[in-house]
Amino acid sequence: MTIMNNHNVDHLTTLLEEAQDEYFGEAVTQLEHALQCAHLAREAGADEEMVTAALLHDIGHLIAEGGEIGTPDHDRAGAAYLSQLGFGQRVVQLVSGHVEAKRYLTATNPDYYDRLSEASKQTLAQQGGPMSQAEAEAFEADPLFVEKLRLRSWDERAKMPGWTGDGLSYYRPILERHLGHNVRPESSRLPSVISFKRLLGR
Ligand SMILES: [Fe+2]
Repeated sequence: MTIMNNHNVDHLTTLLEEAQDEYFGEAVTQLEHALQCAHLAREAGADEEMVTAALLHDIGHLIAEGGEIGTPDHDRAGAAYLSQLGFGQRVVQLVSGHVEAKRYLTATNPDYYDRLSEASKQTLAQQGGPMSQAEAEAFEADPLFVEKLRLRSWDERAKMPGWTGDGLSYYRPILERHLGHNVRPESSRLPSVISFKRLLGR
């Protein structure tokens, strides 16, 4: 565990702590949503990389300036950010794929759209809408296809008002272990949110 990794974990947990007032149109705060999603992953027996992806899957909402329902491209923004911090590619791809999974499921399951929250329905249109058949077939060929769908199922269930469970302190050692295993010295310097927005061309 390097000082830089420690700093990066501090930063991520601070971003999540600050999200205890952010709802983005949902029934729970972004912090509650992240904790519930990670808890559901653990309950399902997921490994630490999947638990990490579940906890951080919406981090893109917290590093960009979104509207009342958040940032439509938060999946890509979050994945790029986590990659820069030094998380492994499986975590990055799972985070990147959680919106693709929604687009896939709305294209292949007629009942799925109706079960989405109102905020999720609104962002779907901005995210490209349901996948075309060719996009769906390509997504099914993704080696992380099943895992992306599993993460999506926890994401949708992680909207339970009044839920109490483990707080961020439970996940800190997991984040530390994961960053420690995937450190990339040349790129692990934490980009400021401002410089990251510049990187995204915002
Ligand atoms: Fe989410």
